[in-house]
Amino acid sequence: MSRESIPESLLPFIHPEIHQRAAEIIRRHSTHPRDIHEFALENLPLSGVRRVLELGCGFGRFSRELARCLSPQAELLALDSQPANQAPWEDHLSAVGRRGTFLCRCIGERLEFAAGEFDLVAASYSLYFFPAIVPEVARVLAPHGVFLAITHSRGSMRELFELAGLDPAGSPHDELLARFSAENGHHLLAPYFSEIEARPYPNRLRFDPESLPAFLEYARFKLPLLAGAGADERLLARLEDRARASLSHAGAIVIAKDDVVFTCRGPRPTRVGPAGEPPCH
Ligand SMILES: C[S@@+](CC[C@H](N)C(=O)[O-])C[C@H]1O[C@@H](n2cnc3c(N)ncnc32)[C@H](O)[C@@H]1O
Repeated sequence: MSRESIPESLLPFIHPEIHQRAAEIIRRHSTHPRDIHEFALENLPLSGVRRVLELGCGFGRFSRELARCLSPQAELLALDSQPANQAPWEDHLSAVGRRGTFLCRCIGERLEFAAGEFDLVAASYSLYFFPAIVPEVARVLAPHGVFLAITHSRGSMRELFELAGLDPAGSPHDELLARFSAENGHHLLAPYFSEIEARPYPNRLRFDPESLPAFLEYARFKLPLLAGAGADERLLARLEDRARASLSHAGAIVIAKDDVVFTCRGPRPTRVGPAGEPPCH
């Protein structure tokens, strides 16, 4: 896939080192005391889990937390469309003494695995890229299996849109969240699972005047999602001016970043037979 053919919604994730720095900024500036991935996994009985599939694993932030909690016999298989994520993903697993299998795949509507193969399927901030995969998740899960999906609330990033002088409506960010969000997630999952629990993770990103460089780095990372093709240096410069003014006037920039963790049980398979998506490259 050439850079030109990559949709704006994917641009922030093609460079794992930039994505990783943004993830660190999020963690440092979150008002919620818990890491979202620890929060997502707490109270989930993982000792009996043997086969795990992660969809849209990125550079391995959630995979590492997952691997840390799994029993040593468990196998972790992770799919992502960006080949550059493989090396950092393997490093993240090594950091907790684990290994797994990374497969470069463009997830669409089919999964190449047999029915009932997995005890756990997870999609952390990724299902909105490929929501049509949900029936396949129900098919590849064992009857006792669990599907864990983390997503954002539609109102996330509103203050960042405002500071940038952008209308969220029609932005790649809004279009992505329209596909799977805190608000519509239950409705989209309900046909395929008999039991769905939604756990809200209320959160804000808070930047004080000393953290202006971190705010600007985060804004640069997010801009393709907010502004689409309009994300350029001029927009960033305008955002910086407004951010400085806001910091001196209000003393802090506070951005809504409310998430939700859906834990789904009782898969209701609706299809038969495995069929893979073609590889990305
Ligand atoms: C926001 S990141 C989340 C990464 C990771 N799960 C986490 O929680 O940090 C979304 C990931 O989904 C991947 N992705 C997007 N569309 C995809 C597709 N169609 N098939 C496979 N991976 C995809 C991106 O490459 C990116 O790594």
